[in-house]
Amino acid sequence: MRDIRSIIRRILLSVFLLSLIAGTGTFYFVLHDRAVQQAEEQARTLLATALAVRSYTNEHILPKLSQLPPTTFNEETVPSFAAQTVFRSLGGQSSGYTYREPALNPTSPADRASAFEIDLIRQFRDRDTLTELTGVHDSGTERLFYVAKPMRITNAACLICHDTPERAPPAMLARYGSANGFGWQLNEVIGIQLLTVPVTRQFSGLMTLTAYLAGGLLLIFTLCYAALSATLDALLVQPLKSLATAADAASVSGGHAVSVPRGAASELSSIAAAIERLRRSLARSMAQLGRDDSAR
Ligand code: HEC
Repeated sequence: MRDIRSIIRRILLSVFLLSLIAGTGTFYFVLHDRAVQQAEEQARTLLATALAVRSYTNEHILPKLSQLPPTTFNEETVPSFAAQTVFRSLGGQSSGYTYREPALNPTSPADRASAFEIDLIRQFRDRDTLTELTGVHDSGTERLFYVAKPMRITNAACLICHDTPERAPPAMLARYGSANGFGWQLNEVIGIQLLTVPVTRQFSGLMTLTAYLAGGLLLIFTLCYAALSATLDALLVQPLKSLATAADAASVSGGHAVSVPRGAASELSSIAAAIERLRRSLARSMAQLGRDDSAR
């Protein structure tokens, strides 16, 4: 037989564990989803900005600067250079907000793809229909949400500078050399446009909020347990004990009148009344027996 308090403890503990797992789990996933959604919105806005800088360079800078004598190469005319430079001044690598155009065989060594970027480029090269990849990447020091789009050469004009060193402007060769960034093919995915926004802070904030929820649940359940067990003690456990003692005394020696102990649950009054009736009829029978004995 188990006592009532341990049964209550067991029930509350099961409810607590269940709500802890289901509640905090759901809470965490909903918040996580929202954080990722917000990061995605931000990333898309910034990516649109980068693309706008690219097309501004193409449409407004390139035509103007290409009228200059071709003795020096102006990287300001290169869409990739313009977009990446604008984003570097946004805070650079350390801010987590980055825009890169990494390639497998880049013109500028700074654009050489990292292992993670190579993996993304390969996925786009393997699947023609893939137009976008998003996700969360752990850079080692930070967690970053990224949006990647394939860089496919669809414009033959790009190949002026990226086909062979012979076709490229001599001033560009003087700056970048002839070893890298050539041999690109039309319709080939040569790299990606990769935009990242930082989510480390958002994600660690999530853990803190979830821990608060778990702490709150624990507090509520501890209070519930304490209140329930104190109430049961006062209403049921203690009165039942004293009723048991009274019934015991009544069965042996006739005892005193049995009544409901103060503060007991009203349900106990009928038990007290029944014990009292039993005690009285027992006393009456005993007295009757006593009289019969002495009359004999
Ligand atoms: C006038 C020559 C020229 C033309 C035309 C040109 N590029 Fe480039 N491209 C460059 C140079 C130079 C770089 C390196 C810029 C830097 O220093 O970041 C570059 C860099 C890039 C990069 C970054 C990876 C790397 O190789 O460093 C990509 C991607 C790229 N170009 C794509 C294109 C596409 C797509 C077009 C056509 C819309 C195009 N380029 C047209 C000269 C050119």
